[in-house]
This record gives sequence, structure tokens and C-alpha cells, in this order.
Amino acid sequence: MTVPKTELHIHIEGALEPELTFARAERNGVTLPYAGVEELRGRYEFSDLQSFLDLYYTGMNVLHRAEDFTALADSYLTRAAAQGVRHAEIFFDPQAHTTRGVALETVLDGLEASLSTSEERFGVSTALIACFLRDRGSAEASRMLDELLEHRQRIIGIGLDSAELGHPPGDFAEVFSRARRAGLRLVAHAGEEGPADYVWQALDVLGVDRVDHGVRAVDDPELVKRLARDRVPLTVCPLSNVRLRGVDDLGQHPLPRLVDAGVVTTINSDDPSYFGGYAGDNFRAIERELGFGAEALREFARNSVAASFLAPERRERLL
Ligand code: HPA
Ligand code: ZN
Repeated sequence: MTVPKTELHIHIEGALEPELTFARAERNGVTLPYAGVEELRGRYEFSDLQSFLDLYYTGMNVLHRAEDFTALADSYLTRAAAQGVRHAEIFFDPQAHTTRGVALETVLDGLEASLSTSEERFGVSTALIACFLRDRGSAEASRMLDELLEHRQRIIGIGLDSAELGHPPGDFAEVFSRARRAGLRLVAHAGEEGPADYVWQALDVLGVDRVDHGVRAVDDPELVKRLARDRVPLTVCPLSNVRLRGVDDLGQHPLPRLVDAGVVTTINSDDPSYFGGYAGDNFRAIERELGFGAEALREFARNSVAASFLAPERRERLL
């Protein structure tokens, strides 16, 4: 079943399919440390978040020109649309590009060249969320926020991603409070590999509108109650959690416990090229392995519309 849905947790750089990686490498004169597409795909065996991030940052080295980012976004939209995605709030990692000499403007121009016509071409409305790389610290995040604010109208919000352990949300309090004052929406990865305490910090220190992943909240009953009471949405990424060994197998995933406790949950792909599927593949996997039926799947899709940053009148198109 392909239910119409919104995707709220997708890193555009994580939608880089190996074929596109090699095509762009050739075009941009980048030498990759893999013989070909099959060898690269064969490396998609991860032991934890860091082992994935190493490959993720290497892969995106092939993105140099605006048109590379346009091709990447078009590739994602083609696949997402085929799986019922009607609206996507898309993460990108500005620092992963600026620190290797690609200007923020190039990244934004390239993505926008695709996203500005995504609705006409793919039937998918889109918005951009710029994520800070938490392992590069708050001072660099603060400087990146200054740069992003020069392009304020081109993004709807900010997020926090990359290596979680040892980089708690609270470190970014000042950056997030400045972003809030600028009218940006706030999200943060928390409780993916990090403890439930990081989810508390995302809520109480950063004041996020949504928590990305958040699955470790199941370790803290008070936190689960808080999420349910305040209806703070979690953007859960089931196949990602399996591939990065957050859970032993999908059958052990905490999603049913969160749902039973009344937490608003949505289903997303995270890094679809690396984790074995796009949004619809994640829906199919939880249907198969966790036994969610048609009505439960529709509820996840409805949650994703309600948890989106779309204006209320634009949500109706999707409900
Ligand atoms: N977690 C943290 N950072 C990321 C991820 C993720 O799953 N994907 C891309 N950056
Ligand atoms: Zn993510």
C-alpha cells in the first residue's frame, strides 16, 4: 500500500546513490577509493553511526557544482514520489560542504534549482532544513548560523546531526535560541545513539519542535510520558536503526512501545541510499516485521502531515 505521506527526516546527501556518486566523480575529476559501484555498495555494512558517517562524508566529496546538488535532489524526488511522498522537509549539511571549499550559495542554488519546481515535476512540495554538524562544535555552528541568516528565506529551520555521543544538544543552546529569534523552526537528532538525557536536553534546553529519531526515549518512562503529553513528534527511521545497529533486528524496534504509550511518531528514511530504502520501503518493513496494519500505517502518514511545518491550509491537500 502506498499511502500519501510527508517525509520529515531525510538527509539529501544520504540519498546519493552509488551510480550518481561515480557519475559525478568522473565529471568532477574526483578519485574515489572504490573500484566501482558494486564495491561501494558492498561497503554498506555498518557497525554504528560513526562507521556510516565515514562513508557518508567520503561519498559527498563528489559534489562540487550547483548542478551536482540539483541532480542529487532530482534523484531523491523521483524515488520518493514513486513511494507516495507528497511533501518533504529535507535536511542538508552546509558545513560538510563549506569545510571542503564548496560555498553555501552553491549548495543552496543547486538544491533550489530542483526543489523550486518539485511540486510541478514530481508532485512533491519541499522545504529545506540546515543541520549543524554537532561534532564540529558550537562555535563553528554559530558562524554557520550567521551565514545561513544571510539566506534566511531559503530555509525553514535548523537541525543538529552527525556523531551524537559526547556532543549533547545543550552545547548548542545559544545557536538554537538565536535561530528561534530569527523565526526558524527547530529540530535536533537526539536519542539515536545517545541517551534519553539528550532527548530531555533537546526539549528543555533547545526547545525543539520535533525530535529526530528519539527512540532511546523508551529507556525513560517519564520522558515517554512527556513526549506523549506535549505531542512532540518523533521522526523515527526504522531501517536506519537496524543498519546502524541501534536495534538487533526490526522485530525488536521500540516503535510499537512508543505508539502504545501515545507518542506521536512518523516513519522516515534518514539516508535512503545507504540504509536499504526510501520512505515507502520503511513503511513496508514495519508492516512486515512489526505487524502494523493498514490503519496504523495511515495513522503514521497522518502524523507526518500534522508534524510537518506546512501551513494548515496546505496540509489539507495531503490529509
Ligand atoms: N545520524 C546522525 N547524523 C546523520 C545521520 C544520522 O542518521 N545521517 C546523516 N547525518
Ligand atoms: Zn538523520
